[in-house]
Amino acid sequence: MDYENLIKKLPKAELHLHIEGSFEPELMFEIAQRNKVDIRFKNIEEVREAYNFHNLQSFLDIYYEGAKVLIKEEDFYDLTYAYLQKCHEDNVVHTEIFFDPQTHTQRGVSFETCFLGIKRALDDAQREMGISSEIIMCFLRHLSEKEAFQTLKESLPFKDNIIGVGLDSSEVGHPPSKFQNVFQKARELGFVTVAHAGEEGPPEYIWEALDLLEIKRIDHGVRSIEDEELLQRIIKEKMALTVCPLSNIKLRVFNKMEEHNLKTLLEKGVKVTINSDDPAYFGGYMNQNFLETAKALKLTSEQIVQLSINSFEASFISDALKEKWINQCKALI
Ligand code: ADE
Ligand code: ZN
Repeated sequence: MDYENLIKKLPKAELHLHIEGSFEPELMFEIAQRNKVDIRFKNIEEVREAYNFHNLQSFLDIYYEGAKVLIKEEDFYDLTYAYLQKCHEDNVVHTEIFFDPQTHTQRGVSFETCFLGIKRALDDAQREMGISSEIIMCFLRHLSEKEAFQTLKESLPFKDNIIGVGLDSSEVGHPPSKFQNVFQKARELGFVTVAHAGEEGPPEYIWEALDLLEIKRIDHGVRSIEDEELLQRIIKEKMALTVCPLSNIKLRVFNKMEEHNLKTLLEKGVKVTINSDDPAYFGGYMNQNFLETAKALKLTSEQIVQLSINSFEASFISDALKEKWINQCKALI
């Protein structure tokens, strides 16, 4: 089977997706007009031209700018529903999405407004398209731990529908240890924990995320390859990495896809998964990430299927569902 066919047929779980990063310029303009919000771009072409990043921060500046047009519950609904339609097209059958409450609460949009819009779209997608999902809320690491505690408090009325907490935004200079207390409190409240670590930051940040935040998955984690002891621990503990290949190229973590370390990590026995991160900004959703990675690194069919099996194994779905999807993946080899 050729790459394209195999990837299309493969059921997939997405484990690293920022819902605000799925904001396509067309929808951004539509919502901006509807809400009468001024954005600094004149047209869609100008927006796309601005998507020329040289590192994580240059992307984040534009990402937070775009999110400013999201004000009402229906805006969050439309944003989320549009992403779920892409999932349906790409045979993503389960998704665990991140949202950044502070990006919105800091602008005066309530936690409830964003949460309810996102959740209603997820419920509709389950019913209409059979896509299962979970919600993970991320703390912005450039803000203080005190502000993260405030967000944790605001989430409590919705706790039963939020599976975990994560950590995102500007990595370098904001190590996981800054959030040790709030993550401990979150775990006591029953949240699972994940964190971005080792995207731009050093392997020490991955150690901290594992030891101090007790994370269940490492978001990105590609710089783990620089520390053999860390790598051996990740392999031994079957700790999954939610790798985002197109994101890594756009943000210059690697110069080109041919230089990405995903295949090396996979062959060393790391539980690697493929994800889209911020697909509207980085040039593609799940299948595009699979396809470009497979082509550039000359992945075998077995490796492509393994990546998908890994995504179900590393997900927070039930064992029965894991078995169902993994069997469907294996049937394609
Ligand atoms: N927020 C959205 N995408 C992100 C990424 N790739 N790294 C850190 N924070 C983010
Ligand atoms: Zn991310």
